[in-house]
Amino acid sequence: MSFAQVYGAATLGINGCLITVEVDIANGLPGLDIVGLPDAAVKESKERVRAAIKNAGLEFPVRRVTVNLAPADMRKDGSGLDLPIALGILAASGQVDPGACRRGVYIGELSLEGRLRGIAGIMPMALDIAARGGEAVYVAPDNAQEALYAGGLTVYAPVSLAEIVAHLRGEERLAPAGRAERAAREEAPADDMAEVQGQLAAKRALEIAAAGGHNVLMVGPPGTGKSMLARRLPSILPPLTDGEALEVTKIYSIAGLLRPGMGLMAGRPFRSPHHTVSDAGMIGGGRVPRPGEATLSHHGVLFLDELPEFPRPVLEVLRQPMEDGEVTISRVNATLSYPAKFMMVAAMNPCPCGYFGDSSRQCSCTPGDIRRYLRKISGPLLDRIDINIAVPRLEYRELAGDAAAETSAAIKARVTAARAVQQGRLARYGLGANAQMGHRQVKATCVLDEGAQALLQQAFHRLNLSARGYDRVLKVARTVADLAGEERITATAVAEAIHLRNNIKESLLGV
Ligand SMILES: Nc1ncnc2c1ncn2[C@@H]1O[C@H](COP(=O)(O)OP(=O)(O)O)[C@@H](O)[C@H]1O
Ligand SMILES: [Mg+2]
Ligand SMILES: [Zn+2]
Repeated sequence: MSFAQVYGAATLGINGCLITVEVDIANGLPGLDIVGLPDAAVKESKERVRAAIKNAGLEFPVRRVTVNLAPADMRKDGSGLDLPIALGILAASGQVDPGACRRGVYIGELSLEGRLRGIAGIMPMALDIAARGGEAVYVAPDNAQEALYAGGLTVYAPVSLAEIVAHLRGEERLAPAGRAERAAREEAPADDMAEVQGQLAAKRALEIAAAGGHNVLMVGPPGTGKSMLARRLPSILPPLTDGEALEVTKIYSIAGLLRPGMGLMAGRPFRSPHHTVSDAGMIGGGRVPRPGEATLSHHGVLFLDELPEFPRPVLEVLRQPMEDGEVTISRVNATLSYPAKFMMVAAMNPCPCGYFGDSSRQCSCTPGDIRRYLRKISGPLLDRIDINIAVPRLEYRELAGDAAAETSAAIKARVTAARAVQQGRLARYGLGANAQMGHRQVKATCVLDEGAQALLQQAFHRLNLSARGYDRVLKVARTVADLAGEERITATAVAEAIHLRNNIKESLLGV
């Protein structure tokens, strides 16, 4: 026997895919050739596979070994193919039975001494294998729980190549891995909106944003609660649907951020990258591609605190995902896409010193300073923000007063009900929230009563709204009506949407 076929797996975007590893051993100058991997990865994999086989007490054939990874046109990054390559070589050289090998899928990196190491992305790979009717997967012990998510698969979690070989030879059978008791999660008491004094207008705006998934900009002097409000947003967001939870969990698996035994992700993601984040950190990429912050925020919140501190190019790369709901990463011979439907929440001071428009202190900035500061974020990004919130300094009585503020649970209940209405209405378009609607859906779902029509017509001329601006006002008005339980959009809802779009842009940003 000098030929063998063994199955492995890789990820493409956020999905898993099966890889066929074919190994041929022929007479000729001894050597190992791997076809179908990027150069750098081949080199590293060769070294590991060769050393692992020797150190497992097995024989590396002293002949010409050719490994082909199919499909050939797919770019296979990462190190999870070490194991099927090693087994393919052992099968082709008659050290294990090729027939026994073919009943499983093998995923893992090998260390030089032949131990199996976990890799990222196991969960989507296991889902793909289960969907194809696969029966058994072999993964490193720290990947076992993720492989078990898929259900219906027998998962083996050997510690080393030697253990797998003994199992396949029938010398010492491995026991299938079982589901671990879910580690009781230490729930830190979640931050609650009730802790934020006053700021009722800001809270109302955040409730609307949360209900419809709209992008938000908060502007106000330092210390007025902008960061505090943003960090409490997850506590009022609607729960993930089952489909959304699955997508988010796949992303976190690929990013290597799933904790063992964590189960499906339950809460919506909240990401708050520092302004020193790189382009690749923001939208993804790298030698072994990883999802960036935009994708890690999928179905959740991307919070950009102190927005003008972010370098403009980093903000520019967010335009594509904000428009398309996904990021496309160009690679040497392939492009890759990751989903990135997030709600952007940004916070900023009104000017470099922070006190422009504040009642308590004089702003020390020149008009030039302020223009330069705002220019960093102006234009396309602002145009994609539907809800602008002024977060002013509180009056003393608001801060000192002990008027009980509403809890996050109460707000979340209204948000969840409004989101459910949207999901029912938008399911046939494959959408889940008002903010995701395109022009066609806006036309179909935003039915205005007479008063609303008249108001919108006036506003269209007075505010010089673009077609895009017009749709965006309607989407927010749709959400306001959904929170009120109204099927038709009223003038009140349109008025609130227009106010949310323009209050800051007119007074502070002058756009
Ligand atoms: N509205 C508020 N209610 C209660 N505490 C507040 C409020 N605004 C600010 N604070 C207090 O001030 C601190 C700074 O607020 P922060 O949210 O960081 O302000 P900003 O981001 O607007 O600069 C908070 O940690 C909190 O202790
Ligand atoms: Mg802050
Ligand atoms: Zn200033």
